[in-house]
Amino acid sequence: MGVNQLMGEIAGVGRDSRRGGYSRHVYDYADFELRDWFIDRALDSGLDVNTDRNGNIWAWWGSQGADAVVTGSHLDSVPGGGAFDGPLGVASALAAVEILQGKGFAPVKPLALLVFAEEEGGRFGVPCLGSRLLTGAIDADRARGLRDVDGVTLAEAAVKAGYDPKRFGADPEALARIGCFVELHVEQGRGLIELDSPVATGSSIIAHGRYRFSFSGQGNHAGATRLADRHDPMVPAAAVVAAARRAAAAMSDARATVGRLVPTPGGTNVIASTVDLWLDARVSGTGRTAALVEDITEAARAAAATEGCVLTVTEESYSDDVVFDESLRHRMDQVLGGVPALPTGAGHDAGILAAHVPSGMLYVRNPTGISHAPEEYAEPADTETGAQSLARVLEELAG
Ligand code: GLV
Ligand code: MN
Ligand code: MN
Ligand code: MN
Repeated sequence: MGVNQLMGEIAGVGRDSRRGGYSRHVYDYADFELRDWFIDRALDSGLDVNTDRNGNIWAWWGSQGADAVVTGSHLDSVPGGGAFDGPLGVASALAAVEILQGKGFAPVKPLALLVFAEEEGGRFGVPCLGSRLLTGAIDADRARGLRDVDGVTLAEAAVKAGYDPKRFGADPEALARIGCFVELHVEQGRGLIELDSPVATGSSIIAHGRYRFSFSGQGNHAGATRLADRHDPMVPAAAVVAAARRAAAAMSDARATVGRLVPTPGGTNVIASTVDLWLDARVSGTGRTAALVEDITEAARAAAATEGCVLTVTEESYSDDVVFDESLRHRMDQVLGGVPALPTGAGHDAGILAAHVPSGMLYVRNPTGISHAPEEYAEPADTETGAQSLARVLEELAG
């Protein structure tokens, strides 16, 4: 089954009729269906499937030995996300195996497909939980205790989905099997439109962090409370939104976003008692993300003091700059006959693995240049080129 047919099989899973696009979150029903789909398709191709202690699914072609060539991505999405971010890498991995099997290729090195348990942080806040747990980049106790908007912990959600969260944690044995990792991903910006190429290799990822700003004030009546008597946490929260844009614009190639803001209790005629917002900050270079966040935090502190509100800032995740393995990238480039190399501002599991094993990315052109939104797209001819490119890369690496 080709990559487009595989993508077509899951096109109906996890659609979000309210937000548009897809909402597929770790250990929810859509995720369950997608995992089952992957396992079925991997078994159809004669692969041996197992799930590691962190809920990542592995599908092995041949022996489960060391120095394996591993490829894959994730199946979860952001809230209201596109169809391609994650699943394209998984479907391409399945399609690449089929292409190679069709050619009679016999891998010399072990070859495995890997579906990470969660990548977006869409439900529990911290991104790349599957690869962070696997590599020990997040403490298992902290991960188990992360809560979703309904107060359900990751551990509780895992139990409900049939996994044992007591086993969560660094998995050096699984990590030691990976000789190299390649993730195919839809491009999330305009790079390949501008370069007029269907595919590229990945060169680097910008450092990025997520920070929770919690303002507490005094809930009160929107009509009866004089302006001078208010401690309205929405006012300093608004200052953060404005400061984020100002501070990012003042640094070269920085990005700062407030994509989520939650007032409690959340009534039109109610001054909120608390407002939580999440800042996503990304800028390349040692200490520069911290400087960006400090600039925004200073503005937040000043606005909170003026309004008589209390501010708490918590770093929820941080990933340093990633430079992908240059010799792996060079090898991929040679096999593909010379393709562009793209830096990206988007985070990936391959970026987490890169600190431990040679890792690389293949990007597929996105003609809308839009991602993390329903408009994210890839032309069928380009996704086919992507899957064929991945097959050639795997053939080179595992042959
Ligand atoms: C993950 O997709 C991220 O870069 O936000
Ligand atoms: Mn994403
Ligand atoms: Mn992704
Ligand atoms: Mn991502």
